[in-house]
Amino acid sequence: MAVFSIHGDIIWSERFGSFKTAENSYLTVVDGKIDSVSAEKPACEVIDARGSLVIPGLSDLHLHAPQYAFCGLYMDEELLDWLNNHTFPEEGKYGNMEYADRAYSKFVRDLLKGPDTRVSVFATIHRESSLMLMRKLEEVGFSGYVGKVNMDRNSPPYLTEKTEASLSETERFIEDAEVFREIRPIVTPRFIPSCTDELMKGLAAIAEKYSLPLQSHLDENLSEIEWVRELCPSSISYADAYDRFGMLSSKSIMAHCVYLDDDEIALMAKRGAFVAHAPSSNANLSSGIAPVRKYLDAGLNVGLASDVSGGSSLSMFRIIQDAIAVSKLLWRLKEGSGKPLTFAEAFYLATKGGGSFFGKTGSFEPGYDADIVILSDEENASVLRPELSVEERLEYYVYADSERPVKAKYIKGRKVFQEA
Ligand code: GUN
Ligand code: FE
Repeated sequence: MAVFSIHGDIIWSERFGSFKTAENSYLTVVDGKIDSVSAEKPACEVIDARGSLVIPGLSDLHLHAPQYAFCGLYMDEELLDWLNNHTFPEEGKYGNMEYADRAYSKFVRDLLKGPDTRVSVFATIHRESSLMLMRKLEEVGFSGYVGKVNMDRNSPPYLTEKTEASLSETERFIEDAEVFREIRPIVTPRFIPSCTDELMKGLAAIAEKYSLPLQSHLDENLSEIEWVRELCPSSISYADAYDRFGMLSSKSIMAHCVYLDDDEIALMAKRGAFVAHAPSSNANLSSGIAPVRKYLDAGLNVGLASDVSGGSSLSMFRIIQDAIAVSKLLWRLKEGSGKPLTFAEAFYLATKGGGSFFGKTGSFEPGYDADIVILSDEENASVLRPELSVEERLEYYVYADSERPVKAKYIKGRKVFQEA
């Protein structure tokens, strides 16, 4: 039995809207799972994190690894122009393994330094470099999903697959990915405009055959939604266009969902599909503001997402800030949109909320995976403002130190990162 304990200022959220804290306490891990939080010193190895914040790992429900190479560029365009002018040309490079090696190494190195412990990642259409990305994430101890992207229409020639080849390459990708334990494949039709009905049917069958989850984009931007309406005249909505293929379930993540109508909200709730709320991306690409409070009130599963490189930061702390900020703008600008998100609510969405897609992660309840992040905040809050509570120190850190490397990170009880 592998047992250890972390001694520090522990804070987590078990319920939407509230924190639990245990200052100067011990978080004990047994065989990769949370065992207890206690003020009593346990009889096992103790890791000294006194004076540091100890929080659950964060989940990024939606991001694009191949876009990281231009993260922070080209933010003056809307979605469809941004895809055509910048994103597709960059993604075209991932047929070159040397380029992919360099770009994915940097992506994984930077992701490792931040607070994320679970991720659901889009790669590109290229099977080999998508497997390389999986290997790199697996090697450093990450847990989560990587999808080989599928595209067989309305895309530049270098990113347009033949339908049959797209399906057979996806099956090969899934079978080759069997060597990985913690990084699993996820079926990834890019979005309705880039996938024919035949491809969608085939992908739904593959998801079923291999019991795999699925990820895509939904209702992100007004021009995109209008295009989908033209492409799918017989569907009553964009969400319905996915649902017809059986692609909405508790094993699917739909990124963005800025403009779900009431029928789509009811459908998403009925299916239990996850909304990956990507506030930074939705601001950068002038997409809009997803009414998250309304979705939560309707019982939808919601998590947070960077959508790098629509989002210009990998840091989920930055995404928490933006989720709160845009909810305040929506509340001010649109009557009846419901109260803004509180800090505790946004933190819950980034941890246990989105984490529930992956299983038991994002909380310190017994039996949860020991996905733990240690933050060093001695320099700021506790020195300058020693009167701050643990909760206030966390808020201060999330806003003021969002891009700093974490002090240490554990995934399923295994240390994956330690600040140099
Ligand atoms: N819709 C289809 N592809 C993409 C993408 O790469 N990023 C975003 N934000 N939306 C998309
Ligand atoms: Fe995206």
